[in-house]
Amino acid sequence: MLVENFCLTEMDQESAARRADVAQVLRLCGIAAGSEALAPERFYMDYGEYRVVRGPDSEIAGMVHYDVFSERRCAKIEDIAVDEDARYRGIARTLMTTALEGMTSQADIVLASVWHDAAPFYQKMGFTVEREATERSVLMAKVLDK
Ligand SMILES: CC(C)(COP(=O)(O)OP(=O)(O)OC[C@H]1O[C@@H](n2cnc3c(N)ncnc32)[C@H](O)[C@@H]1OP(=O)(O)O)[C@@H](O)C(=O)NCCC(=O)NCCS
Repeated sequence: MLVENFCLTEMDQESAARRADVAQVLRLCGIAAGSEALAPERFYMDYGEYRVVRGPDSEIAGMVHYDVFSERRCAKIEDIAVDEDARYRGIARTLMTTALEGMTSQADIVLASVWHDAAPFYQKMGFTVEREATERSVLMAKVLDK
């Protein structure tokens, strides 16, 4: 499975393909955030790393967004989402593995605020529950292998 870097903040939205990719990444960010109605502007101001995987139709089928805070030796998974019709085929596992590999040299621990529904996926990826965060989410963490 090919994982691509994706720069959401590049404003070169000239091509229709690029516009479609940006729209799809924003849609996936909305799904990860628990709402499809979030304002795109929020994400344009965002920072961090985005990785994407395309489906057989070459449209983006999944994305992970993470930040590394190297001075604190920690990282955070901000969003991870896979299109509903592409789930349970290992896309999120591939994206998460790539993200974890990308942060290992700069961080010792990775945190994530996780919806209860997604917690079993994170557990499969080696995260454990630190504490309840809100009624709908838990704070999870994983010590990064060196
Ligand atoms: C969570 C999510 C990203 C998983 O994506 P996916 O591509 O279907 O996951 P994968 O196929 O890579 O699954 C990897 C492993 O986790 C398991 N898994 C995935 N989703 C699961 C779920 N909801 N419940 C239990 N296990 C799950 C898979 O069975 C697989 O296990 P295996 O390796 O033993 O076979 C996807 O369901 C999603 O986009 N959910 C909505 C957005 C969301 O909640 N994101 C998290 C924000 S906190």
